[in-house]
Parts: sequence; C-alpha cells; structure tokens
Amino acid sequence: MNPTVEIIRDGVKLWPGYFDLPAQQSLLQAIRSGTESAPLFTPKMPRTGKEMSVRMTNFGSLGWVTDKENGYRYQAMHPVSGEPWPEIPDLLLNLWSDLADYPHPPEACLVNYYDDAAKMGLHQDRDEEQFEAPVLSVSLGNDCLFRVGGTSRGGKTQSFRLRSGDVMMLTNEARLAFHGVDRIYPDTSPLLKQGGRVNLTLRRVTAG
Ligand code: SIN
Ligand code: FE2
Repeated sequence: MNPTVEIIRDGVKLWPGYFDLPAQQSLLQAIRSGTESAPLFTPKMPRTGKEMSVRMTNFGSLGWVTDKENGYRYQAMHPVSGEPWPEIPDLLLNLWSDLADYPHPPEACLVNYYDDAAKMGLHQDRDEEQFEAPVLSVSLGNDCLFRVGGTSRGGKTQSFRLRSGDVMMLTNEARLAFHGVDRIYPDTSPLLKQGGRVNLTLRRVTAG
C-alpha cells in the first residue's frame, strides 16, 4: 500500500500505485468470484437503448444499472439474474474506511470492464441521493487516459493516465466533476490475461 497522494485539481485526489501487484491480484480474485454469480452485462443508454462499450456488474446492497426503458438508477438486484448483488470485498471496504473520511460504508461497488477498444464519455456521477460521500475508484489492468473537468459541461478538462493499482477520489468541489475515459492503452499491464481494464467505483447512495 502506497499512501502518497497527489492533488490533480481541487477535490481530485490520486494515489498512484496504492495497491501493489499482490494486492491487485487479490482484488482480481475477489472480482472473479463475485462475477460468477453476478456476470458482466451490457448496459444500454436511456431512451436510445444504444449499448455502452463497457460491460458492467456490481457488488453491494445497491448496484448502478441503466437500460432503455428505465434509465440510470440503483437497484438491489442484478438486471439479468434477478439475484441480489454479491457483497463488496473486504479489501474495498477497508480501502473506503482508510480513505473516504465518511461515517458510513459504501453501498455500491460498480465494476466496469473495458476491452481495449472501450471508452466512457464525459459524465457526472449524480444518481446518488446525497453527494456528501466521495466517489472512490480503483484501476486494474491496462492503463487508461482519464479525463476530468469541472462541474459544468463544456468547461476546461485535463487528462492523465490511470494505471493498475491506482486509486482515485472525487470529493468536495469535485464530487460532481465531469469525468470519462478517452482510451485504453493495450499491453500496458500483465494483470489481465485477456487485456483490457477493470475499474471499481465505490459509492454511498443513501444518506445513511
Ligand atoms: C466511471 O466513471 O464510471 C468509470 C471511471 C473509470 O473507468 O475510471
Ligand atoms: Fe463516473
């Protein structure tokens, strides 16, 4: 665990290489076991039904989902299996208690899988009932080019690489910052044999 933190801009904190390779492997193992009962699914955009290029699943009491009919939301069940999501792995609950500075545990861990061609457009995380808790995320696998801006669309943005084991937080003035993933860099990490990148995003949904 590397506790060194960089401030990218106000409210955007980065812990480069927070998780070393053995810890990344343990996380990956926990994700693999969770996805056995909660397989990755292909999310669809509200209204248009257009497929997103990432595949996703969740851990925790609430998971973030999206589809054509009902749009962005949190729900307690996997949309395909109808089963509750698996529990959030302890390593991630510990990460949250170490870094989040929030009195309640995360309720949602969104698991995004990017193949080497996937990306994610600029958006805000704003489907939660409160924005007091930070958004805390972990990168695994290939590097990506991450983009972050301010809280209004069309504002100035900056881009930087996120690497396997990095932890990033959006908090305070950046809790509602626009952010996205411009591209994945193939063959930049040995962690995922099939290539691509996994992002784990921890969020508190309710005020608690
Ligand atoms: C997201 O904003 O949902 C994902 C961010 C990331 O992949 O780093
Ligand atoms: Fe996001």
